[in-house]
Amino acid sequence: MDGNGRWANARGLPRTMGHRKGVEAVRETVRAAGDIGIKYLTLFAFSSENWRRPEAEVSDLLGLLKAFIRRDLAELHRQNVRIRVIGDRSGLRGDILPLLIEAEETTRNNTALTLVIAFNYGSRDEITRAFAGLAKDVEAGRLRPQDITPELVDARLDTAGIPDPDLIIRTSGEERLSNFLLWQAAYSEFMFVPDYWPDFSRELFFSALEKYAARDRRFGGLSAKQAAAVGS
Ligand code: FPP
Repeated sequence: MDGNGRWANARGLPRTMGHRKGVEAVRETVRAAGDIGIKYLTLFAFSSENWRRPEAEVSDLLGLLKAFIRRDLAELHRQNVRIRVIGDRSGLRGDILPLLIEAEETTRNNTALTLVIAFNYGSRDEITRAFAGLAKDVEAGRLRPQDITPELVDARLDTAGIPDPDLIIRTSGEERLSNFLLWQAAYSEFMFVPDYWPDFSRELFFSALEKYAARDRRFGGLSAKQAAAVGS
């Protein structure tokens, strides 16, 4: 969800206004995803590196996430949306962790869209924590190194049980992954859109999905067309 700050700058507004407008784009995108039956939508809300921002901005971002959960949880629950949170939970202070847990607990049996909120998330940190857990199990004799498979690694990540993303959209013209779902993105399609996140809309979302639908995904194999040509 990149470009909140630049959106605000371009209008002579403080960065915080960009983040506020960004929450409106979150609402519109979540609604649009639910409306067309998307099963999983992951939003990168706060990275493990975002703590490096000025204290006032960090506090503003945490405040917006908390306000979003407080205000929207009942409505999301009514829409049968399940909330899952990925990221490092250790060391989180204040009321943010109880709120995230409440959102997950309240919606745990919902079956429409799963909204995955990446909070205090960094992919390298996630993978490191997963490997530390595996190493502990090996050390304790609960696991043999030869039994470690990609599926087992998957099951130890914060995203356990969540399918790999088909499409990753990054706004604001940045063309980087920035420590987002590095393991899970092995076969994801990428879409880089020039628009700043606050301008992201149902229309831009659907246009990205249409482009995605025209992509030929081969997962290292052959497309149906290629395979048919080989077979004939
Ligand atoms: C990136 O833009 C955006 C963020 C770091 C924060 C995104 C968070 C929200 C929209 C609010 C809370 C989240 C939810 C799910 C309700 P940037 O600040 O890096 O913008 P810039 O690249 O233009 O500086």
